[in-house]
This record gives sequence, structure tokens and C-alpha cells, in this order.
Amino acid sequence: MPIYSRILGTGSYLPPKTVRNDELAAQLALEGIETSDTWIVERTGIRERHFAAAGTGSVDLGEQAARAALQAAAVDPAQIDLVVVATSTPDMIFPSDAALLQARLGCPGGPAFDVQAVCAGFVYALSVADQFVRAGSVRNALVVGTEVFSQILDFSDRTTCVLFGDGAGAVVLGPSQEPGILASALHADGRQAGILRTPGCIRGGAVSGRPFLEMDGQAVFKQAVHVLESVAREVLEKGGRRASEVDWLVPHQANIRIMLHTARKLGIPPERVVQTVASHGNTSAASIPLALDSAVRGGQIRRGQTLLLEAVGGGLTWGASLLVY
Ligand code: UT7
Repeated sequence: MPIYSRILGTGSYLPPKTVRNDELAAQLALEGIETSDTWIVERTGIRERHFAAAGTGSVDLGEQAARAALQAAAVDPAQIDLVVVATSTPDMIFPSDAALLQARLGCPGGPAFDVQAVCAGFVYALSVADQFVRAGSVRNALVVGTEVFSQILDFSDRTTCVLFGDGAGAVVLGPSQEPGILASALHADGRQAGILRTPGCIRGGAVSGRPFLEMDGQAVFKQAVHVLESVAREVLEKGGRRASEVDWLVPHQANIRIMLHTARKLGIPPERVVQTVASHGNTSAASIPLALDSAVRGGQIRRGQTLLLEAVGGGLTWGASLLVY
């Protein structure tokens, strides 16, 4: 039985259309909604985001990211025994994005399912896949985070619509005798469901409840800074590493202030924090694999380095993963 699962390759995909803060502000101004590039940059660090074209779904974005990860890993789709997709914006209620993606890629008939843990979704999905690989029940796993949050944004709510973007990221995991994923820590507190949610659902053939993202930003901010530090410390302890041994913190890209605050608390300098929030915005479950792939392809993250991944999202859900890349 393998001792570890290890990332064999990473990939990502961003839809081509970018919207800069000033462009979004100009669009919102037409509806009488006031915002500015200065406010968005100062409060979040976001400068632009990508929006998928009408008709492009999370499976489309996920497929591009998955193909790039498979190529980087030199693994054929026929060798993928497990597909796990983290998303809160699936193409359909069912089948899952994972089943649709499995068919598109031509992977054989192993398990395929979605994990719904909102912005913590990728860390959840990675931990699930890691456990399948370490148990020896599958050999290679494809783990994808993919979102079209533009589809659930209320563009009359300036407190949320400026924050999110679309995109996808993916990794291929395989068995290894050398260290790979060292430890994971996952948590949820459903009592806090109300501070970040998209409450709408389908009832009797119609949408029931608001199908738009709602957030109490300050409440989420307070929780985020608390739980991200504690889960990072927990996973370091589980994995037997000190924060000073972490080469790269790869945080969920929601807000630069939260990312750098967590890093400071852990004693990790800002230059060891992968930062893509400025150009991606918050892409929910896609944000960590997008950041990871951009740092791998940019030559920042190298083989043998120790990475700490951490995220918090609706649920409330949060988690972290410590790994050797
Ligand atoms: O991905 C899942 C995890 N999500 C997060 O981690 C998000 C956590 N929360 C945050 O990142 C921050 O709370 C926000 C970026 C959402 C908001 O930043 P903030 O510093 O907490 O601002 P605030 O909500 O306290 O709002 C400050 C002011 C308010 O005006 P008043 O009441 O002071 O007059 C808002 O109405 O900014 C106003 N405001 C805006 N002004 C211009 C809110 N949104 C905007 C906007 N443009 N887009």
C-alpha cells in the first residue's frame, strides 16, 4: 500500500474575458450603484476578475484545467480511477460535475462525485482523494476546483458582486513512497450557515428563495482570521512541521488582508505567500488550485518544497492541507 499520495501535475484555466475594477464600477454606475477601484483594492486587493461567457459552465472550465493537469502529470485520462470535483456552481443539480467531466475526459468507470464545501471545497476534495489513494483503493485521482460564481452574483449588491470571479484549477494525485500530502485538517460549523450563503433551491419546478450569494462580510472576516490561523497550526502539528519550514503558503484567495494577516500570525513573510487575488478575485473552490498552478508554472513553487494550503467558506467550512510538492 502507498504511504503517501503526491501531486503529479497541476493545471488551471481562466475564461478569457477579464473585467477590471474600473470597468465593473462603470457598469454598476449605470444602475446607480457606487463603487470604485480604490475601495475594492484597499479592502480586498482585487484589481480584476475573469467572467465566463454566457453558456460556459463549470464543467467547461474544469475540463480545460483537468486536461492541463493531466498533461503536466504525464497521466492519460484512462489511468484516472477517481474524479472529485469541488464546486458550488455545478452545471446541473445532477449528475455531478465530476460524472460529466469523467465522461468528457474519457476516464474509466471509477467513482466520480462532487464535494460541496464552498470556498473550502478544494481542501476538502484533496483530503478525500488523498485518503482513497493512501488506502490503495484507487491509483490516480483527478481533483478539480471549478466555479462560475458570476452566475450567482447579485449585481445590485456592491458588497458582494465586486469580490468574485470564475475559473478552474486541478491536480492529479498518484501513490508515492516519498512524502506527498503530509496531513489534512477539515472542519465545519453549520450554526454559522447564515453569514455566507446562496439560499435558493428548486421546488416544484421553480426557484424557491434568493438564488444569489449573500454575505455578512464582517462576520466572515472575523471568523476567517480566527479559524485560518488555528487550522494552519493544527495541520502543522499533525504533519510534524514548523511554520518556518513552510516554503509557500497557498491560501484561499478571498482578501489580501486576511491572507497576509494569517501569514503574519504564523510568522510566514509575505514573499512566501502565493498571491493571485489581484488578478483572479475570489474564485471560491477554484482559488487554491489556480494559485498553486500559477506558482508552479511561474517557477516559484519547486519540487520538494513544503506547501501549506488553507481556506474558509460558506457552511461555515474550513480546512488546511500540508504537503511536499
Ligand atoms: O470566500 C469566502 C470567504 N469570504 C471572505 O473571506 C470575505 C470576508 N470579508 C471581507 O473580505 C470583507 O469584510 C469585505 C471585503 C467583504 C468588506 O470589507 P470591510 O472592510 O469589512 O468593509 P465593510 O463591510 O465594513 O464596509 C465598509 C464600508 C461600508 O460603508 P459605511 O457603512 O462605512 O458607510 C459599506 O457600505 O464600505 C461600504 N462598501 C462599499 N463601498 C464601495 C461596501 N462595499 C462597497 C463597495 N464599494 N463595493
